[in-house]
Amino acid sequence: MTGPILDFPDQVPYDAYVHASTLHSLQQPLSRDPGEMSFLMVSQVMELYFGLARHELRDTQRLLREDDVWGAIAPLRRTKLHLEGLVAAWNGLRWMTPSDFNRFRGQLGEASGFQSAMYRHLEFLLGLKSEALIRPFKRQADLYDELSTALAAPSVWDDVTAMLARRGFEIPAEVLTAHPAGEYATHPAVEKAWVEIYHDDRGDNPLYALGEALTDVAEEFGEWRYKHLTAVQRTMGNKAGSGGSSGAAWLTRSMAKVVFPELWSARTVI
Ligand code: HEM
Repeated sequence: MTGPILDFPDQVPYDAYVHASTLHSLQQPLSRDPGEMSFLMVSQVMELYFGLARHELRDTQRLLREDDVWGAIAPLRRTKLHLEGLVAAWNGLRWMTPSDFNRFRGQLGEASGFQSAMYRHLEFLLGLKSEALIRPFKRQADLYDELSTALAAPSVWDDVTAMLARRGFEIPAEVLTAHPAGEYATHPAVEKAWVEIYHDDRGDNPLYALGEALTDVAEEFGEWRYKHLTAVQRTMGNKAGSGGSSGAAWLTRSMAKVVFPELWSARTVI
């Protein structure tokens, strides 16, 4: 039996690839409260998942633009699984009572997950656009430029709709030429296209499979939002947020914006 390699001329190759030392040097809690570390690290883990989901959704867009629908389903399926990991990460905070949170909450100042640029980018890709929400990044040119570009670029849903038009579904020009930076306006023609697609529910219908893969992503993203709201209600009730909003009430309103809306409304008709 051969054992693993134990001698390396330089850095351990695992560290060179994973950058584990760098990752583990990034935790800088602000208080001496032992519970703060899980708050900080769960936030960092979630940031990484936001980034991974963004990576997959960008790949989905690339494949949709190439009219490779089966190809686009693969990164969507991965996205769903990553979002499951993201949602499971909430478990690391379920121990936290209001008094546990209060022990370090003051140290956060005005910092809030609301200011996560990666989360905002993910929302834009999912079609939840809001020009106002990139304002916090105005003084960080790199983030601001990236988010402004993402705001003005088509969302995954825009790319799906454009692909359906190329495949002969009757999508009016006004839908295809709508300025993507604005808040998405639902259209009955898009809903009708999905009703038609769902009428052919054979497993080898790529558009039907795409619809279900997109639904999984929307549902899992909704799970994250719901668990976030529950964590907020559990640890701070209806107090105002550190980011300056009314807290749970603001989040409830933000959650009302639906991801891939016609894919849901079509189900009433099918
Ligand atoms: C118990 C822990 C948490 C509490 C009490 C909490 C509280 C809040 C509150 C009150 C808001 C609304 C904005 C504000 O005024 O601050 C918010 C937004 C947000 N938080 Fe948290 N949060 C928690 C954990 C997390 C974690 C671990 C993450 C992961 C990075 C996160 C990410 C976000 C994001 C992305 C938003 C913006 C949501 C949107 O735009 O709809 N939060 N949070």
